[in-house]
Amino acid sequence: MTELPLIPLNAPLPAPVPSQELRDRLATRRSAPAQALAAPGPTQAELDQILTLGARTPDHGKLFPWRFVVLGPRSRAEIAEKLAVLAEVRDKPAKDQAVLAKLTAAPVTILVVSTPVPNAKPVWEQQLSAGAVCMNLEHAAGAFGYSSSWITDWYSYDSQAVALFGLTEGETVAGFIHIGTLTEPALERPRPDMAAKVTRLP
Ligand SMILES: Cc1cc2nc3c(=O)[nH]c(=O)nc-3n(C[C@H](O)[C@H](O)[C@H](O)COP(=O)(O)O)c2cc1C
Repeated sequence: MTELPLIPLNAPLPAPVPSQELRDRLATRRSAPAQALAAPGPTQAELDQILTLGARTPDHGKLFPWRFVVLGPRSRAEIAEKLAVLAEVRDKPAKDQAVLAKLTAAPVTILVVSTPVPNAKPVWEQQLSAGAVCMNLEHAAGAFGYSSSWITDWYSYDSQAVALFGLTEGETVAGFIHIGTLTEPALERPRPDMAAKVTRLP
């Protein structure tokens, strides 16, 4: 694996070149079912590059309004046990406990935390940037030949649950990006009718 280039500030960057390979990848990109993600997952060196590539994401004002928590199997298992206890007092405990399988299956998980900077650019824009990071991480994982899944689930919206992942006041889960390998191919899902989605103005 080659190192990522170290690019000096204000260095001229290469212009995009046409790539049929990249277009084919984007045309067939598909999330994995999180519970079907198995080993192998990224090595430590691959994960470092996936994080760096994921962080190369637009944000208004150079605020970098997000951070990462890398979760391996042990930390996820420990947290999932505590989440299972929290799920017991929720409206649908069985369902909320069942989805914990999605949290613990993959070899590795990157939690993307939205950390908007107060009184800076609009919070919505800062949250969009965190979402863009999630998508970029999925593309970066794909570039190493891994499948991935972007999950939130109930524990992203429960204050006691997010505290278990180390989130503090003002922080929100943008997504858990689970990364690994699929043993069965992912199946195509419905895609939008582009004619209904695109308005063209002269
Ligand atoms: C912000 C966000 C949160 C999501 N949360 C969940 C989730 O909690 N559970 C789930 O099954 N899918 C969830 N998904 C959907 C999948 O990650 C995935 O996007 C979808 O199933 C397949 O789309 P794709 O194949 O085009 O990537 C979420 C997607 C997004 C964008």
